[in-house]
Amino acid sequence: MRTLIKNAKTLGKYLGKNDELVEAELLIENGKIKKLTSQIFDEADQVIEASGKLLLPGLIDPQVHFREPGQEYKEDLESGSKSAARGGFTTVICMPNTNPTTDEPEIIKKINQRVKEIGLCRVLPTAAVTKGLMGSELTDYQALKEAGTVAFTDDGKGVQSDEVMLKAMSEIAKTGLPLLDHSEDESLSLGGSIHKGEISQKYNIPGIDHISEAAHVARGCEYAGKTGCHFHVLHVSTKASLDYIKEAKEKGWPVTAEVSPHHLLLCDEDIPEREPGKLDPNWKMNPPLRSKSDRAACVEALESGVIDMIATDHAPHSTEEKAREITKAPFGIVGLETSFPLIYTYFVKTGILSLERAVDMMTTIPAKLFHLPYGTLNEGASADVTLVDLESEEIINSSNFLSKGKNTPFNGRKVKGNPKLTIFSGKIVFNELF
Ligand code: DOR
Repeated sequence: MRTLIKNAKTLGKYLGKNDELVEAELLIENGKIKKLTSQIFDEADQVIEASGKLLLPGLIDPQVHFREPGQEYKEDLESGSKSAARGGFTTVICMPNTNPTTDEPEIIKKINQRVKEIGLCRVLPTAAVTKGLMGSELTDYQALKEAGTVAFTDDGKGVQSDEVMLKAMSEIAKTGLPLLDHSEDESLSLGGSIHKGEISQKYNIPGIDHISEAAHVARGCEYAGKTGCHFHVLHVSTKASLDYIKEAKEKGWPVTAEVSPHHLLLCDEDIPEREPGKLDPNWKMNPPLRSKSDRAACVEALESGVIDMIATDHAPHSTEEKAREITKAPFGIVGLETSFPLIYTYFVKTGILSLERAVDMMTTIPAKLFHLPYGTLNEGASADVTLVDLESEEIINSSNFLSKGKNTPFNGRKVKGNPKLTIFSGKIVFNELF
């Protein structure tokens, strides 16, 4: 089976050229990239006319919550995969806070098996650092690695005990896989619903102190230096955390960080009222939207390279759950179907990030973290690609999402850079192009 993409554009670097964008045609054969050049005249079974579209490697998201097993009413591996494909993603890393949690090799194997059957996206499971994400008993890292996990994390929560964390990182270092940290000292955050500051005070809502994140980021950086374990900070949100990350990198410690579009674009002052005096729970996530200056620090760190990559932290919940009062609604917003357009519109179009850097932050850089051979257009690589429309403007409307979750704070935003066609392993998995 041969598929030929005609008349697209792509980043010059994929063709070894200095220009930002160049003409590109791509030939796919039996699920693999056969050829990428400016013009291809070979015969193909399927020809995709892509004039005016940007051809990119399928995007990689280092943090999503797909809820299977256990909470399929929020999202399952199939709906999550469809949502990823619509967002231009062909590889996503899914978090362990399912029910049961991914603390046994059998659960990792089952997820991998189910993902293969679905065949719409490469959904790679992470394994729990501690049994049941309870923070005390370590899981069997070697066995979980052999079962096919790509990283260890207790995401959904942080590991509270310093002793357990140090032991875990010493053991995880031996596997060569990264530890992904949800950095949150619960003694400073528990019971909070939004960032602790003027807004939490004004609405009399318990707040989450910014130090709760920074304290665990500082701890993890120190332990990375001591153990050699790769410490990756999930969804960073505060200036203090970024200062620790910068310092650790300068010392040469194995530390990386990701940021989510919402922490780059929104702050606590932006949270609207759903009804008079009541804040909208579709703006509630953990870590929460922080202060204006924290948000500015995230943008600066994106620009300077202290932040390595972009993650959606796609966290679907049902409409009923998000209809509760903000203090009772669960944390989390969906992000797969808005991430690339938001980054393109607000950071590439505005000149803060080059298109190449933005794409690297959503392809090659996360691929390196998880030791994956994806996120490239190299000959012989898995044919994972997306075609993006950089010109037409669309309005974000959660009722069009393929995710079961409609919980987004970005409804009504005008964005460019919407993916129109996604190919995973040579197969079209999302098509709004023809
Ligand atoms: O907002 C969040 N939602 N943050 C997390 O760490 C967990 C996630 C979820 O699972 O819903």
